[in-house]
Amino acid sequence: MSRLLLKNAAIVTGATSFKGSLGVDGGRISGIWEGVPSLAGVREIDLEGKILMAGAIDTHVHFREPGLTHKADIGSESAAAVLGGVTSFIDMPNTAPPTVNLATLEDKLRRAGETSLANYGFHIGATNENAAQIREYIGLGARFAGVKVFMGSSTGNMLVDREGALDDLFKIKGKTILTHCEDESIVKANLKRAESIYGEEIPFSEHSRIRSREACVKSTGKALDLALRHGTRLHILHVSTAEEVEMIREAKLRNPGITAETSANYLWFSDEDYDRMGGRLKCNPSVKTAADREALIKALEEGVIDSIGSDHAPHLPEEKARPYLGCPSGLPTIQHSLPAALTISLNRGIPLSRLASAFSEMPATIFGIEDRGFLREGYHADLVVLDPNREYTAGPPASKCGWSPYEGLKFKGSVDMVWVNGSLAAADGKIVEGRKYSRPLLYKS
Ligand code: DOR
Ligand code: ZN
Repeated sequence: MSRLLLKNAAIVTGATSFKGSLGVDGGRISGIWEGVPSLAGVREIDLEGKILMAGAIDTHVHFREPGLTHKADIGSESAAAVLGGVTSFIDMPNTAPPTVNLATLEDKLRRAGETSLANYGFHIGATNENAAQIREYIGLGARFAGVKVFMGSSTGNMLVDREGALDDLFKIKGKTILTHCEDESIVKANLKRAESIYGEEIPFSEHSRIRSREACVKSTGKALDLALRHGTRLHILHVSTAEEVEMIREAKLRNPGITAETSANYLWFSDEDYDRMGGRLKCNPSVKTAADREALIKALEEGVIDSIGSDHAPHLPEEKARPYLGCPSGLPTIQHSLPAALTISLNRGIPLSRLASAFSEMPATIFGIEDRGFLREGYHADLVVLDPNREYTAGPPASKCGWSPYEGLKFKGSVDMVWVNGSLAAADGKIVEGRKYSRPLLYKS
């Protein structure tokens, strides 16, 4: 592994940004300097005009392996990840079989060890019955990031709806609980009403009335109540409404272990896009109004939203072309999440430190990821170089399903180079082939 000096970059962290240089040695960051140090025997790369940040840690992906590999697999999606500046990912449990015990977790770790181009980790899935078992796994030091609780049902039918089970899960200590919040009975009633009006021909613009803001608000309220009652470390996933932002802001004051995520989809799109995009904008929770989008952008800027996960959820183009009722929810976005957020930030003058925090530092902090997520001496050299001056139109992604809702849209900044554990993994939009450099994520308890 070569010794490297990345010089003259705009180095951006969650706390600061300055012009400087970063050294890499043995796969780790060997130093960070203002200006350019004189070092002997290093290969220098001049990053004048470019931004250097810690590689993104995407703690919310659905890579579909095992069981759904006609849509995607760890090899294909980790390539799309790296091309999007994502150097580590944590995969969700709604695979087939679902990741709800040690055997399925270990199977995923083994598979990722064989094919992943990015560092890899997995969340374990909660069921109505497995809280005690998850507690045991935590005691054994099992290698998973967090505990995913579907408080609303979505792709994969992993709904947890027994009140006692939710109490038991929210009492878990030592790991972060992640929730998908959409109230099931509200969604069901809305769907029934839409079917009575439209029959089978429900227009996609109904999606945000079926998967409604009321469903999100009620379910997020319940998750926050539980977290306040039990002192839970809770990460609310894919926040999509202005009301939830305010509820989370309040709750954080009373339990600092509460954090929140949104995805670039809710920062970029609005319900005005359903007519144009149809099933290609159908995801759960639904994309809401332009006013919600504004509130979420502001919440990201203020830090009420802590992290951005892509919620990368590939489905085949032919599946997404089906009428509303047969069209699966989910958008393949991992390759475009960071460029989309960078574009929004550049357009709106949001400090890039907010992106370093939301894409890398807070994900590492929330899940206790060891030695990654920050530009710090001794940390793994997971790095992304962004070019804020390169405008481009997003093409088809490397994702196995071959499409993205961002295709054809214009971005202001591009992913220029990506290092994983000190090895160049992608440059100029292409994977650097022929190396195995990924590692499993390790967690502090
Ligand atoms: O839109 C979604 N797609 N929401 C989810 O909760 C799951 C995801 C998927 O796995 O397709
Ligand atoms: Zn998801």
